[in-house]
Amino acid sequence: MSELPLAVIAVPAPPAVEELLSSVCRPCYVAASDVAANLATAEGLLCPAPFPITVALLDAAPRLRVVSNFGVGFNNVDLLEMERRGIAVCNTPGVLTDAVADLTVGMVLMASRGLVANNRFATGGAWSAGESPPPLGWDLAGKTLGLVGFGRIGRAVAGRARHFGVRIVYHDILTSPGPGFEDCAYLSLEDLLRESDVVSLHVNLTEETHHRIGAAELALMKPTAWLLNTSRGPVVDQPALVAALRAGTLAGAVLDVLETEPPAADDPLLAMPNVLLLPHIGSATVETRAAMLDLAARNLAAVLGGHPPPECVNPDVLPRALQRR
Ligand code: DGY
Repeated sequence: MSELPLAVIAVPAPPAVEELLSSVCRPCYVAASDVAANLATAEGLLCPAPFPITVALLDAAPRLRVVSNFGVGFNNVDLLEMERRGIAVCNTPGVLTDAVADLTVGMVLMASRGLVANNRFATGGAWSAGESPPPLGWDLAGKTLGLVGFGRIGRAVAGRARHFGVRIVYHDILTSPGPGFEDCAYLSLEDLLRESDVVSLHVNLTEETHHRIGAAELALMKPTAWLLNTSRGPVVDQPALVAALRAGTLAGAVLDVLETEPPAADDPLLAMPNVLLLPHIGSATVETRAAMLDLAARNLAAVLGGHPPPECVNPDVLPRALQRR
């Protein structure tokens, strides 16, 4: 009987996941910084979604058959390069939809009710000192929420936000909202940006969506509008965003993702009073992270065991990836 395939696992795994992996492969648990050094004979890699799969890394992994991302995003891989090498790319869609949508609703409220400024006012001494409170917030009812990207997560945000009485408009490559979302209106990106009081981004990062929100797009937004981003930092041209916020042509931004994570200590966004930053926590709940790891492990185990995985971004590659080399 041939030896089980080696798999490099660059995320901590609880016993149930360890057990699953050990049944189909020889798992080698490493820190993300040690992945490259351990790939020489590895057939599988399980890594965080932002982990960059570079050509140099792939060159160091001649037997690799599957990269299983612990996350839904897959902008860390070059799909053409993976196809050329016959490597399957797996991700974890679906299981984090609710967590990201919940956070987005929280971000809408952070913006509309000034939650951060009010918390600082209450706890930072200003309230006790009798200083003037932050400006009043604004009601959501009757406002327009613009969702850029109306896939699983965009629709989950719409399903929650409609209970606040907002008008929901969206822009997507598909113009039809899908069953159950007939109350949401399709708009061109330009019209969505012009009409929305809050714009929230829910697109994958691709060549097409890189810097999709740049100076020209920001200039279309209302000066009272807020931009929210839980997708990927590079969807927004960050220097253009900083310029718009400084110029007052945009009221504020709530960002869970940045072009560079973590940000440099002197990143201007860190010091802007109308920017609320979160450290990429869209999927960061106990339940969601457990479900993501379970799916990522099942994806890896399936491919290494010679079976189609539950989720694969490039299924055309599977006939080659399922064969041991
Ligand atoms: C994802 O699932 O892609 C999250 O953003 C974590 O990177």
